[in-house]
Parts: sequence; structure tokens; C-alpha cells
Amino acid sequence: MTRDSSQQPPVFKGMLQDTGAAFAAPAEQSLFSSMRQAGIDWPVSCRNGTCRTCIGQLVTGEVAYDIPWPGLSLEEKPDGYCLPCIARPLCDFVIQRT
Ligand code: FES
Repeated sequence: MTRDSSQQPPVFKGMLQDTGAAFAAPAEQSLFSSMRQAGIDWPVSCRNGTCRTCIGQLVTGEVAYDIPWPGLSLEEKPDGYCLPCIARPLCDFVIQRT
């Protein structure tokens, strides 16, 4: 059975605020995986949303998580902080290091 290409998950555009580096960010994978595939050096450790080593801040855009409560506080979420190791993009985004 062939897959209808219109049902492919979208690929968004990610960009680093500090360098302007742009990269493809497929909706079905983490921001960290997309940055790694683009050769972008980003800190990572646990890769499960608990240690906060990878924390960054979205300048624009939105992300989603597969776990109900990633290691972010109530105050950090509305301020755009995210954990790229487990965050998946919902649209084009710009992210900055913290
Ligand atoms: S690497 Fe630990 S929270 Fe992302």
C-alpha cells in the first residue's frame, strides 16, 4: 500500500537566534534530533525531559510534548522555555540558547 504524500507529516523550518542557522524540523521528531542532523551543536544529556541540560527558549513558534509534564515550571512554559530533547515542533520556530 502506498502512502498518500499529502499525509506525510509536515517539515517545519527551525532557526537558531544567535547564529541564524536554519534547519529542517520534521513534526514527528524532536528539535534536538533535527538540530543534530543539521550539524548544530546543542547540549544534551538524559534525552527524556528530566535533566534540563538541553533547555532553550523559543523566540517564536510552538512545540508539543509526548509526556504530560516535561521538566519545566509553570512560569517557564508561557515564557517560551522548552526542552528540545523531547519537544516536537508544531510550526516554524526560532530558538535561542539560555
Ligand atoms: S537532555 Fe535532559 S531534559 Fe533534555
